[in-house]
Amino acid sequence: MIIIISDAKNHVGKEATLQGWMYNKREGGGGKLFFLQFRDGSGFMQGIVSQADVKPDVFEKAKELTMESSVIVTGKVTAHPKHPDVFEMQVTDIGIVQLCKEEYPISKKDHGPDFLLDNRHLWLRSPKQWAIQRVRNTVINATYEYFNKNGFTKIDTPILTPTACEGTTELFAVDYFDMGQAYLAQSGQLYLEAAIMSLGKVFDFGPVFRAEKSKTRRHLTEFWMMDAEMAFHEHDDNMRVQEELITYIVKCVLERNLKDLEILERNVEPLKKIVPPFIRKTHREVVDELRKMGSDIGYDHDLGGDDETMLTKKYDKPIFVEKYPTKVKAFYMKRDPANPEYVLNSDLLAPEGYGEIIGGSQREDSHDELLKRIKEHKLSLEAFQWYLDLRKFGSVPHSGFGYGLERIVGWICGTEHVRETIPFPRMISRLTP
Ligand code: 4AD
Ligand code: MG
Repeated sequence: MIIIISDAKNHVGKEATLQGWMYNKREGGGGKLFFLQFRDGSGFMQGIVSQADVKPDVFEKAKELTMESSVIVTGKVTAHPKHPDVFEMQVTDIGIVQLCKEEYPISKKDHGPDFLLDNRHLWLRSPKQWAIQRVRNTVINATYEYFNKNGFTKIDTPILTPTACEGTTELFAVDYFDMGQAYLAQSGQLYLEAAIMSLGKVFDFGPVFRAEKSKTRRHLTEFWMMDAEMAFHEHDDNMRVQEELITYIVKCVLERNLKDLEILERNVEPLKKIVPPFIRKTHREVVDELRKMGSDIGYDHDLGGDDETMLTKKYDKPIFVEKYPTKVKAFYMKRDPANPEYVLNSDLLAPEGYGEIIGGSQREDSHDELLKRIKEHKLSLEAFQWYLDLRKFGSVPHSGFGYGLERIVGWICGTEHVRETIPFPRMISRLTP
């Protein structure tokens, strides 16, 4: 019977067949035993081949097997004598699907990040990379679950767009037939604002593109964003939804991926502390705090990467930094009625030095105010006519936010750089494989 490794516990004492790859091999018993490490996508398992117990040709195959060769192996599943929840196979037969003739490029020795990224198509098989993709899968599923449980409808927003959502300096342009240039979407937000007037609460989830010149551990040029948008939700409601969503995601990962986090050597204690309420501070308070810590950040500046790192290392809970100066934020954000120098926005920063994972705000819902902002930002009135229409026909207070999937996965997995959290990273100096 063909089984998968993650299901081995249900086959103890029985004969079973695995289909997968041999990722490592050790010799023992003075050449009379082979310990073959198999993986099949669902997990890892050791197979023991003993010369005394198998036909000579099977033992020959065990001897011949090279790293990353693909195999179909049969044997009895046994429980590990010492470790609970670990299972092994007493191999009786080996079918070689493909024997690798060349030495596998990724060995146990330390490789530099460029070498690993050049070999990303192979590096993805390594246990840590495998574990990261499994956590990523849980984060995606938990996100869908949260929104489905809470009355949101998924809306697919376009990737080819006529205008910028988040500032015009980070746009990828493509030729669009005889209409001139189109731009790859930076966020689906503006389209979600149209959709809430039909469906109330909506979200999207897809790839977005930013021609970021930044070479930091937090930036990719192609990444996955989830945007959510809600009618009749104001600034505080917006933060409450974000807090609930992040709490739910972390809880799901702790329930479903403990073994993966162990492979990643991630200390889970900080993750257990991710429960409401999160910390809330205004931008002004944060600037005061950062300046005391030695930063030279000004009161009308966005937080820099180093500021985020320094601030979030101090706290063990996520921090909402709210009410940024109007001039450093996007045109669509609603001004704080109490002080129009500031907007009703929040960035959510993850603890342990990770920094911004979500950007969100209440949106300007007055037609005339929005028109002023569009003019101030020198954006094309014609291109934004449809967006202004939304403020003419049944405008309502509304808010929303967008998270960066790779930033969230990076924080939860404890990776140094977001490039490891996406299967095939795209960065300013990397487009391959
Ligand atoms: O803060 P941002 O730019 O916000 C928006 O795009 C809004 N339109 C979202 C909304 O309100 N619906 O981007 C949202 C998140 C950031 O908080 C960050 O996690 C991630 O996207 N992000 C990046 N992740 C990887 N590489 C980059 N270059 C990123 N830029 C933003
Ligand atoms: Mg942001």
